[in-house]
Amino acid sequence: MPMPRSLLPLVSWALLVLLSGFSVCSADSAPYGMRISCGAREDIHTPPTNTLWYKDFAYTGGTPANASRPSFISPLLHTLRYFPVSDGPENCYTIGGVPVGHYSVRIFFGLVNQTNFDDEPLFDISVQGTQISSLQPGWTNKDDQSFAEAIVFLSNGTVSICFHSTGHGDPSILAIEVLQIDDRAYSFGPGWGQGTIQRTVSRLSCGTTSPKFGVDYSGDQWGGDRFWDAIATFIAGSDQELSTEQAIKAASSAPNFYPEGLYQTAIVGTSNHPELEYIASVDSNKNYSIWLHFAEIDSLITGAGQRVFDILINGNVMFQDVDIVKLSGDQYTALVMNTTVSVSGRTLTITLQPKAGSVSLINGIEVLEIIAAESRTSSAEVSALKTLKTALELPVRLGWNGDPCVPQQHPWSGADCQYNSTSNSWEIDGLRLDNQGLRGSLPTEISMLQHLQSINLSGNSIQGTIPSSFGNITSLQILDLSYNDFNGSIPGSLGQLTSLKKLYLNGNQLSGKVPAALGGRLLHGASFNFTDNAGLCGIPGLPTCGPHLSSGAKVGIAFGSCLAFLLLLLCTVCWYKRQQNVLLAQKIAAREAPYAKARTHFSRDIQMARHHNHHNNQNNSHGGAMTTAATESGPILLS
Ligand SMILES: *[C@@H]1O[C@H](CO)[C@@H](O)[C@H](O)[C@H]1NC(C)=O
Ligand SMILES: *[C@@H]1O[C@H](CO)[C@@H](O)[C@H](O)[C@H]1NC(C)=O
Ligand SMILES: *[C@@H]1O[C@H](CO)[C@@H](O)[C@H](O)[C@H]1NC(C)=O
Ligand SMILES: *[C@@H]1O[C@H](CO)[C@@H](O)[C@H](O)[C@H]1NC(C)=O
Ligand SMILES: *[C@@H]1O[C@H](CO)[C@@H](O)[C@H](O)[C@H]1NC(C)=O
Ligand SMILES: *[C@@H]1O[C@H](CO)[C@@H](O)[C@H](O)[C@H]1NC(C)=O
Ligand SMILES: *[C@@H]1O[C@H](CO)[C@@H](O)[C@H](O)[C@H]1NC(C)=O
Ligand SMILES: *[C@@H]1O[C@H](CO)[C@@H](O)[C@H](O)[C@H]1NC(C)=O
Ligand SMILES: *[C@@H]1O[C@H](CO)[C@@H](O)[C@H](O)[C@H]1NC(C)=O
Ligand SMILES: *[C@@H]1O[C@H](CO)[C@@H](O)[C@H](O)[C@H]1NC(C)=O
Repeated sequence: MPMPRSLLPLVSWALLVLLSGFSVCSADSAPYGMRISCGAREDIHTPPTNTLWYKDFAYTGGTPANASRPSFISPLLHTLRYFPVSDGPENCYTIGGVPVGHYSVRIFFGLVNQTNFDDEPLFDISVQGTQISSLQPGWTNKDDQSFAEAIVFLSNGTVSICFHSTGHGDPSILAIEVLQIDDRAYSFGPGWGQGTIQRTVSRLSCGTTSPKFGVDYSGDQWGGDRFWDAIATFIAGSDQELSTEQAIKAASSAPNFYPEGLYQTAIVGTSNHPELEYIASVDSNKNYSIWLHFAEIDSLITGAGQRVFDILINGNVMFQDVDIVKLSGDQYTALVMNTTVSVSGRTLTITLQPKAGSVSLINGIEVLEIIAAESRTSSAEVSALKTLKTALELPVRLGWNGDPCVPQQHPWSGADCQYNSTSNSWEIDGLRLDNQGLRGSLPTEISMLQHLQSINLSGNSIQGTIPSSFGNITSLQILDLSYNDFNGSIPGSLGQLTSLKKLYLNGNQLSGKVPAALGGRLLHGASFNFTDNAGLCGIPGLPTCGPHLSSGAKVGIAFGSCLAFLLLLLCTVCWYKRQQNVLLAQKIAAREAPYAKARTHFSRDIQMARHHNHHNNQNNSHGGAMTTAATESGPILLS
């Protein structure tokens, strides 16, 4: 049943999926597995293996839609979730309750089944802050590019998977899988584990034309559910397929859990062309972990020494005198070999050169790119930024989901990052949020961004006072809060900012005395602008501050004014009485004396008084409180 829109949390834009209770995660029995059908309203089981996909309907962010599958290898799911640009450039699924271990994380892409949608959105994908995939034009025509996959070590109980817009259509996600694999799977030697991520480049089952998933192969669950693309020939005409129905020994033994079917087919050389050569196009200047699979499935090769070959990668001999039967111990027995290579060009060539006996043979090839996992942003600073996001009512279009600084290709807009090699984390050294329609008020927690050097919040509608905690952002050099609605006085703590070079507070409603320590600093070379405020005073260029009145003095002045007013009233009454007497006398003397003339005269006196008061007021307008008594006397007289 669809959930009423009003029940959905409005602000939480990162999707938080906490479904840990659903899955079995006992170390020996079954690996942890989480599969999410994006945009689904119901949990779904897909054929042929009745795989369970959890719905994500209760989570906010993005828009659910009907999907069309870009490739036949995508799971049979009918919905997706896409992230329009108005949702911000970064959108994430954060899945909690994940036991410590190694995981295969896979994301399937979808296409929105509506005519007005971009045919082929291009976007980037990151796992734990490390970018693992960047969709390339034409991906919808390539089966093995309808998903991104990486092997990740998760130690933290959560996995965060983010989609980053690149301005080419809306990221659209069909499904997400987080499948635990054996703890030593794909361990390639020094450098493996925490701190590295292995991105799947290609995974080939040789000598077959039917691509398969691990589940189709009835592979062991501890191997994940890898997709094995089919390759029948490396170079048509110069090699051939070989297959067997025989059972394969040791195909699935820790830590190498591979489906038996992988070893039941192979590509072998021909008598004219005994060598085998596989060429893959890769990204240059990357390190690759290469996994090669062998099993002697030719019934004619019955013992050691009958098939021996060297393995070269980009021309360098990586393995010498490989004898499958000798190394695996028997015929029909799996052999896994792995090596790591650094590739400078754009091709990766794997060559099997026969040394003795028969032609070369190979059953499977895996190429994984080794990516150094990104360091994260210090958690104190992340939480400070999240507090700011809420307090300043940051517009949704800015995003601010996932990690602020990584992947480095997609930092949060408005946050400047620097890497600190001592703490091995990223820090925020600048905030550029000028003219972003921010509201609300600045929280004290802004000072948790201890490495800020520059802040520009100019041209927003931020209210309230300037937090005094600014004073302990000791590295701060530039503070631009101009053109906002800040009120109250400038906190004295700003005087502690010894590195301050620019301070722009113009165009606010600030009042009161500029703190002496700050004033002193500004007068020594820093640039500042305090104009256009409600009444700042106390440094050269601003009015001098009026004497500070105690409340006793204020009472005194009020009392004095009342007394003066009463006196004035008394005089007026006396004068009026006198005038009446004069008029009476004149009336008696000459009957037609003009009554109005006296009134005109009276009125001119008042106008003069008003004019005088107005002038006074203008003179003191920068000074503040002192003119009040004088201005008020005008209206009192008039009414
Ligand atoms: C998705 O398809 C179903 C029928 O398969 C239809 O009822 C529904 O309205 C569609 N939803 C959208 C958002 O197009
Ligand atoms: C797209 O949706 C229409 C009905 O809305 C359906 O008939 C069609 O099969 C869908 N296309 C794909 C590729 O799923
Ligand atoms: C685990 O990751 C989450 C989300 O990135 C983060 O908030 C939390 O601080 C991390 N915990 C540890 C112990 O690193
Ligand atoms: C990969 O090869 C290295 C030696 O080159 C070996 O130490 C490691 O155990 C191998 N990994 C697996 C999973 O077999
Ligand atoms: C490849 O590995 C070498 C040695 O381990 C390392 O120095 C280098 O930085 C790596 N290159 C990349 C692109 O990761
Ligand atoms: C880097 O981190 C260390 C340890 O947290 C800290 O002492 C140092 O001040 C930081 N360096 C910079 C440039 O921020
Ligand atoms: C802050 O941003 C405004 C408007 O975008 C710009 O005019 C101003 O120069 C910036 N302030 C500083 C200190 O760079
Ligand atoms: C920063 O300043 C605030 C207010 O001035 C103060 O309460 C807080 O303890 C200070 N924090 C640090 C780390 O100095
Ligand atoms: C500042 O403005 C807020 C509302 O915008 C108001 O509540 C507060 O009293 C004002 N503070 C001062 C010192 O004027
Ligand atoms: C200071 O700010 C005012 C507007 O608030 C502006 O007109 C003036 O040009 C600024 N002065 C400098 C030196 O930037």
